[in-house]
Amino acid sequence: PRVVVLFGGRSGEHAVSVATAGGVLRAIDRDKYDVLPVGITPAGQWVLAADDPDRWEIAPGRLPHVEASSEEVVLPLATGRSGVRVLAPGEIPRELGDVDVVFPLLHGPFGEDGTIQGLFELADVRYVGAGVLASAVGMDKHFMKLVLAGQGLPVAPFTVIRPGEFDRNPAAWTETVAGLGLPVFVKPARAGSSLGITKVDDLADLPAAVAAAQVHDPKVIVEAGVVGREIECAVLGGRAGERARASLPGEVVVTDAAHAFYDFETKYLHQAGVELTCPADLPRHVEDQVRDVAVRTFEAVGAEGLSRVDVFVTADEQVIVNEINTMPGFTPFSMYPRMWERSGLAYPDLIDELITLALE
Ligand code: DAL
Ligand code: MG
Repeated sequence: PRVVVLFGGRSGEHAVSVATAGGVLRAIDRDKYDVLPVGITPAGQWVLAADDPDRWEIAPGRLPHVEASSEEVVLPLATGRSGVRVLAPGEIPRELGDVDVVFPLLHGPFGEDGTIQGLFELADVRYVGAGVLASAVGMDKHFMKLVLAGQGLPVAPFTVIRPGEFDRNPAAWTETVAGLGLPVFVKPARAGSSLGITKVDDLADLPAAVAAAQVHDPKVIVEAGVVGREIECAVLGGRAGERARASLPGEVVVTDAAHAFYDFETKYLHQAGVELTCPADLPRHVEDQVRDVAVRTFEAVGAEGLSRVDVFVTADEQVIVNEINTMPGFTPFSMYPRMWERSGLAYPDLIDELITLALE
């Protein structure tokens, strides 16, 4: 089958996506799949990209990105703002029609949020991962929590600050946030990789934290901090008629006190100051509970293919869902593939399984 490996994109997680593509291009079975790497520039141009994993590797202090030169543009599908022609709807199927499946290795808005999934649906192209609604719900931490809580899954208390609301009455918001108890985490509602997130221990820092989140999204969510271990669990969609499967859980331990939490820098630039352990050292009954919550979270948002579910495990063994990521980081060193590796599914086989699921 012919596979488009699609990466880069317009979100703040561009470089993370590019690094993931490097890992997948290196590992995908070339005897089985005819691979077409397509990059999306930060401005939104689609280009035929170099099939060179080295070029897309992330390294300490180096964030790779997709660039366009005019000859390379294969699908100039971008917003009018970037000055690029928008294709007529009829042109989209022709451009993508000679591929069997797209693997959208895209994180964040315009990639993980249902927008590009909508394009594939319109174009009648198969793709790996969650559909339009599940992607949109997984991207928006506000609606994610409503959907999970509505189906009986445990989430931490939160409040939502809609566009413009904070500045109209900062004092009232400060009171509302104080009601959640400190610390709180102030987050853009729709972003990933911890971009724009601030841990607030002192209410005097709230206005700056809200402003930092608003750089990424005018809608902001403030979550009560949960005291607990940060545990993650990988979920893989079931073949036709089967339930999704959960991996052995992993644990994130921040070891560098300079970082208040597992933030963007810790995740990608230093690749130090944090330990990812798998399997997490949990009592068997708690491990089972984490895996059960992970699968139920996957099902609650209607995800398909893959997701990483991040939870907190508290001292009294409660499992609280932090979030679901419908296109989790996927470099060979990322938690999602590592958890599957430890559960008996090697990285190349995981890629094969995901493409197979999309083609089913
Ligand atoms: N948003 C990043 C890629 C993750 O969840 O792994
Ligand atoms: Mg996320």
